Amino acid sequence: MSASLAIVSERVVLRPYGPMDADALYGLWTDPQIVRMTNPGFQPSREQVSSAIERFRKQWDEDGFGQWAVQQKMTGAVIGYCGFKLWERTGPELELVFGITPTLWSRGYATEAVRSALAFLQERHPSRVVLGAAFFHNKASHRVMQKAGLLPAGTYYEDGPYALFRWGAGQEATKK
Ligand SMILES: CC(C)(COP(=O)(O)OP(=O)(O)OC[C@H]1O[C@@H](n2cnc3c(N)ncnc32)[C@H](O)[C@@H]1OP(=O)(O)O)[C@@H](O)C(=O)NCCC(=O)NCCS
Repeated sequence: MSASLAIVSERVVLRPYGPMDADALYGLWTDPQIVRMTNPGFQPSREQVSSAIERFRKQWDEDGFGQWAVQQKMTGAVIGYCGFKLWERTGPELELVFGITPTLWSRGYATEAVRSALAFLQERHPSRVVLGAAFFHNKASHRVMQKAGLLPAGTYYEDGPYALFRWGAGQEATKK
């Protein structure tokens, strides 16, 4: 996997997950405040987190997109995740996913990471369409997607009602 898949912005570095991220990702994916907003009831084991990391690394190799660990420059700590997977496992649209450790919420980290991710996609996969789905009550995530340039695209129902956002081919990620 190429190091050029890493993205550096003002306060964070986005880099594809590696085996060394297992503990940090386990912490994020089992954090009650994150789980409540993304996948209530889901409680992955450490083994499931490690195999997800392997799966996402394979996706980077095969598809040229995937998910990044969001690393805080100042501390070197992994403070979140951000990236893309195939919408409903088959695509062709990509689903945007992102999360930040709750102690750092509302400091602009998610918006900074999502903007970098969209700029990457714009450059490497310009014809891809991105969809973001978030629970109706997950207002912070709606705000992040809109600040980064996604547009409201109605609702989507799976295990509950979701607000849907879309970012299309030719659409630029907002900068600031
Ligand atoms: C959604 C999430 C990633 C936001 O991370 P963050 O780093 O705090 O995001 P930012 O600081 O970049 O932006 C948050 C924005 O939401 C706003 N916000 C926060 N709580 C809010 C609320 N309850 N209602 C409305 N807006 C809210 C903030 O004020 C900020 O907007 P502003 O810059 O205009 O003031 C974070 O809350 C999280 O990890 N949630 C759990 C995972 C998740 O929901 N992921 C998205 C679904 S895939």
